[in-house]
Amino acid sequence: MKGFLISFEGIDGSGKSTQARKLYEFLKEEGYEVSLYRDPGSTPLAEQIRELIINYAMDPITELLLFESARSSLVWEKIFPDLTSGKIVIVDRFIDSTTAYQGYGREINLGTVSILNHIATRGRKPDLTFILNLPLELALHRLKEQKTKFEEPNYLKRVRDGYLQIFYSEKERDIRLIDASRSEEEVFEEIKTITLGKLKVL
Ligand SMILES: Nc1ncnc2c1ncn2[C@@H]1O[C@H](COP(=O)(O)OP(=O)(O)O)[C@@H](O)[C@H]1O
Ligand SMILES: [Mg+2]
Repeated sequence: MKGFLISFEGIDGSGKSTQARKLYEFLKEEGYEVSLYRDPGSTPLAEQIRELIINYAMDPITELLLFESARSSLVWEKIFPDLTSGKIVIVDRFIDSTTAYQGYGREINLGTVSILNHIATRGRKPDLTFILNLPLELALHRLKEQKTKFEEPNYLKRVRDGYLQIFYSEKERDIRLIDASRSEEEVFEEIKTITLGKLKVL
């Protein structure tokens, strides 16, 4: 498969959506064919699943399966066709969110999470992943009132540590740990440089 898949990861408030949008706009300006999606979401079905996850209290496994269903829909209906036509695809959250939140955070068996990630994505991994890393206090401060059910501090600490575990353990992938405590512009400068470097050698 041609194309290039970039994922943005990190806890809520780390700046994923901000940076994913900036990279999308920048690459479009540069003349690249590029799409921007959010996971869960970005297909009618996946957006409905996203609403279910937000609006219902549920056990961790039900939640995990809904996340994977939404991902499967996004991968099959949008990401695969785009990659096949040679586009750059940017996703705001992807497989590592499930490993960090459902695996490390909710403490579901990591092997189980990994198998379900593999099923939902048909084994397609991102070509480049940015983990936006910042201290919990700073993320919570940035979010202020917009807290969701995923933001209790102890749970979030496991999630943040989970992202670091992913960074240190998945050596076969290209994962970049980005210091997200800097200004939007400084963070973007690094992301832009890394991305252009990767695209040039394709
Ligand atoms: N580098 C930054 N410094 C300060 N505030 C930021 C920075 N990046 C994003 N923000 C702000 O923090 C909040 C969360 O950013 P957002 O991109 O939505 O994060 P995420 O998608 O990871 O939850 C937003 O209000 C955003 O404007
Ligand atoms: Mg966001």
